[in-house]
Amino acid sequence: MTVSLEDDGPNLVELEVAFKDGAKCFYAVPNFQNPSGVSYSLEKRQAVAALLDKYDVLFIEDDPYGELRFMGEDMPSVCSFCKTPSILCGSFSKIAAPGFRIGWVVTEKEIYDKLVIAKQASDLHTSTVAQAIMRRYLETNDIEAHVGLIKDRYGRQRECMVEMIKKYFPGEVTITEPEGGMFLWATLPEGRHPWISLMSLSRIRSPLFPAGRSMWMVLARIHSVSTSPIRMKRRLRKVSSDWATAIKSLLK
Ligand SMILES: Cc1ncc(COP(=O)(O)O)c(C=O)c1O
Repeated sequence: MTVSLEDDGPNLVELEVAFKDGAKCFYAVPNFQNPSGVSYSLEKRQAVAALLDKYDVLFIEDDPYGELRFMGEDMPSVCSFCKTPSILCGSFSKIAAPGFRIGWVVTEKEIYDKLVIAKQASDLHTSTVAQAIMRRYLETNDIEAHVGLIKDRYGRQRECMVEMIKKYFPGEVTITEPEGGMFLWATLPEGRHPWISLMSLSRIRSPLFPAGRSMWMVLARIHSVSTSPIRMKRRLRKVSSDWATAIKSLLK
């Protein structure tokens, strides 16, 4: 079962219907979610928690992007409002190194014990070498300072991306403007979405266009380019104008 996502979080009517229909678990990404970049408002966080409590539904809050806020106020997790059991998942993938495949969960003992069994059944355990390296890294580096640096950089890249899209894309295209994370979502007018043609037309290798009613751009590829802002801007200008040409020809 899926629930529609609105600008400020899930559609609460649909969520309640799903819970009434017997959903036992709700998985969500309330911060700068992948792929839309949407974040839940404070009101929706509280309302979702109230529904989870009312219907006694387990909540899995996946939060790999929460640390990457460039602007606005930090939001409390949905879990922090829940009285029913919940699982909060964090990751070092977006703030340290994805290759280590190391993250963490915050949950109660009973669920934790079951998760350990499930983890053992799936891969025995996370590489101890990778864990030791990450531990050493955390002991000998200031992770907060590092996150500050990448937030600054990603924030500037996000600004640049939004600016380029607004400048070069046709007016019919709307975008989300997330306050953090790695993604933004662009929507074209209803009824015109031959995305595969868009992909072949645009000749762009870096962003990703999965088929669907809307298109989405993975900024991570662009974020990860270690290049100066000037070169990045030049590159984004080229990418944006290629997209714009492709989109304009599709909208004819
Ligand atoms: C919503 C979401 N959850 C989890 C992950 C993966 O996290 P990890 O690298 O820790 O497996 C991603 C990665 O792209 C993601 O977008």
